[in-house]
Amino acid sequence: MAQKKNELPVAVTIFGAKGDLTRRKLIPALYNLYIENHLPPLFSIFCIDFLETESAAFKTDLLEGINEFSRSGQADPVKWKAFSSKIIYMKGDFQETTTFQNLKEKLVDFDKQNSQRSIRIFYLATAPRFIEVIADGLYQYTACNKDKQDRIVIEKPFGTDLDSAKKLNLFLLKRFTEKQLYRIDHYLGKETVQNILAFRFANNVFEPLWNNKYIDHVQISLAEQVGVGKRGGYYDSSGALRDMIQNHLLQLLCIVAMDCPGAYKAELIRDAKTKVLKYIRPFTSRDVFKNVIRAQYTEGTVNNQPVPGYRKEAQVLPDSSTETFVTAKLFIDNKRWRGVPFFIATGKALPRQVSVIVIQFKNSPNKIFKDDTVPNRLVISIQPELEISLLFENKVPGLEMKLQPVDMDFMYKDAYTGSLPEAYEALLLDVLEGDPTLFMRADQVEAAWKVVMPILDAWKKNPSKKLLFYPAGTWGPEAALKLIRPHAKKWFQLPRIERLVRMESAAVQEK
Ligand code: BG6
Repeated sequence: MAQKKNELPVAVTIFGAKGDLTRRKLIPALYNLYIENHLPPLFSIFCIDFLETESAAFKTDLLEGINEFSRSGQADPVKWKAFSSKIIYMKGDFQETTTFQNLKEKLVDFDKQNSQRSIRIFYLATAPRFIEVIADGLYQYTACNKDKQDRIVIEKPFGTDLDSAKKLNLFLLKRFTEKQLYRIDHYLGKETVQNILAFRFANNVFEPLWNNKYIDHVQISLAEQVGVGKRGGYYDSSGALRDMIQNHLLQLLCIVAMDCPGAYKAELIRDAKTKVLKYIRPFTSRDVFKNVIRAQYTEGTVNNQPVPGYRKEAQVLPDSSTETFVTAKLFIDNKRWRGVPFFIATGKALPRQVSVIVIQFKNSPNKIFKDDTVPNRLVISIQPELEISLLFENKVPGLEMKLQPVDMDFMYKDAYTGSLPEAYEALLLDVLEGDPTLFMRADQVEAAWKVVMPILDAWKKNPSKKLLFYPAGTWGPEAALKLIRPHAKKWFQLPRIERLVRMESAAVQEK
């Protein structure tokens, strides 16, 4: 997270300005940065898309986006007026050179008005097929030519496999320096994810235990309630492995498993994370079908709403074998983690949204109490609850020596007031300040692709081998549970969710 405060003027250009990401995330994030005084006094937001749009109608749409999605709620009319006066819509086809010529002129004018060369941020909120053509346009028209001041933000997916990611890196690095490239993984901007480093490396209680001597296994689950919705076209050629595992899940795994970097410095942190990826034991094609479970949702009910089967979703092939659920067992073959399984899981159309990391410690070796059967468990809950809790054995009050596991909880909402910044706010501010700590370096992206390539290859060769199905609104196939069973009776997020549901219904009854 950026520390300094930039005072230079900033010109933000958004390619794909009429897309969902701009409306839901980018403009609400920029607006919140503005109202909380994180933007410099002089800034402009150039919004480019290929559709003809009246500026007023475009801004009204953005305002509605803020009102619907911003954590700060309805926009303040005075602040919105001032903020929106900085937004300039430009119709532009990304394939046409005039688009870049016009943009360059606008950027130069902006600098002239301010008598200073601004920081230029180019946000590629577009479909991946436009990345190269936009990057080339910016390069040819020298719009992004100052190594220290000009930055390009690239959304995921970064490539569709290792080869395409390498090619894309080569293409970009021929035109720009690594320092100018901000490959985004929005999970890294989440408050609770950023906190894991602080939790691990600023508290001496846990770090000495953070290894194979004390830890039995780790579970990382990103469960989603949403199905593919309107994104079937993209998702059907992607699937959960590319969409969630190659990036978000592996990044979380890196943060949990990395060694302490020598200092809180971008490159040292990124080096430590990349090392984890390099130590992940490569899957053989046999392992893939044993240790990676893939499944697809069928018709069902989520949150009391009917959900069509995945194959019936818009823009999805009727015989698609794309996975909407993946569970995998990984090993990190280094000194710290040898022998400790990491179970990762993600799925769509599950009963609840829940992102949780569970560190399951080994049993206490003492065994002086007959009912000391539940080992310690640390749970880092990323969303929707923001919470860290430690399960430990406790004596039940009374005359008997009887033990019972209890939770010690830290809840963000009890300790802090106000809403937490959205991931995109943290990340955009970092781009503005030139801090790449939370972004993916070229080698990190490639190392992550290397981990998933054997899985992609094995599935490609055997498109429907062991493809399982689960009704929407259930926790995935039984096989996911079987994978974890030698180590744990269950995925530990489940009892927590049951507790959450109980708490919610109790709160409703109280009302
Ligand atoms: C995106 C994926 O990167 O992350 C989506 O493309 C997924 O499919 C989303 O729904 C999940 O993000 P979050 O922040 O809602 O957990």
